[in-house]
Amino acid sequence: MKQKYFIAGTDTDAGKTLIAAGLLNKSKSEGLSTVGLKPIAAGCEETPEGLRNDDALMLMAQSTEELPYEQVNPIAFAPPIAPHIAGQQLRRPLSAGRIVGLLRGVLMINRAQFTLVEGAGGYRVPLNPKETLADVTKELNLPVILVVGMKLGCLNHALLTVEAIQRDGLKLAGWIANRVDEDMAVYKENIETLHAMIQAPCLGEVPFLSEPTPETVASHIKLPSVDA
Ligand SMILES: Nc1ncnc2c1ncn2[C@@H]1O[C@H](COP(=O)(O)OP(=O)(O)O)[C@@H](O)[C@H]1O
Ligand SMILES: [Mg+2]
Repeated sequence: MKQKYFIAGTDTDAGKTLIAAGLLNKSKSEGLSTVGLKPIAAGCEETPEGLRNDDALMLMAQSTEELPYEQVNPIAFAPPIAPHIAGQQLRRPLSAGRIVGLLRGVLMINRAQFTLVEGAGGYRVPLNPKETLADVTKELNLPVILVVGMKLGCLNHALLTVEAIQRDGLKLAGWIANRVDEDMAVYKENIETLHAMIQAPCLGEVPFLSEPTPETVASHIKLPSVDA
């Protein structure tokens, strides 16, 4: 049985990459083969092999199946700005159809038992004036795991994102509270509110980590249940 999930965040820097790497690490340690994909990355370094993005490399490091970089991260832009604006500036406009095509290709040849697709920014990140990355997730009918970056303002972001996922007819396979702000006030009350208002399983609470590694994250989370 092949499990595939889209990793959405309440915002950029919510911890999508770190949590995705933790989930891949956990599934590896449970004996599953893994692949992490980052279809669109804005914020890449020039290397002799081409543009490289830290998120994509971190996901690759937790993938048991080896894929060429270009399959993991087919759309790579150097400037760390909104992807559709980077695409416009570089005259490489983004379209949902093209990204769906690229992802379908990789997902078809990919044999991994546990595959994650990390989004970019938040759930409704634009691709062009008419489409968002959510159109891709919808077209591929991927269940979503939502990473809530725990900080002031996250309740509104989390609830809006859950609403958008439901409106798109996608399954919310689970959510993870990720404490990005060590000093967040009334953390416990915020968590309780999320539990009360999100009708999907909580897959874990990741504390603020002085050394955020996939291994440490893995010890705080569980994998989504297959029929969730
Ligand atoms: N629980 C945590 N504790 C400490 N640092 C964290 C935690 N979660 C994320 N970070 C750090 O915050 C930054 C943003 O996380 P990242 O996973 O890259 O977010 P996103 O992929 O949503 O943009 C990274 O430097 C990451 O190491
Ligand atoms: Mg990321």
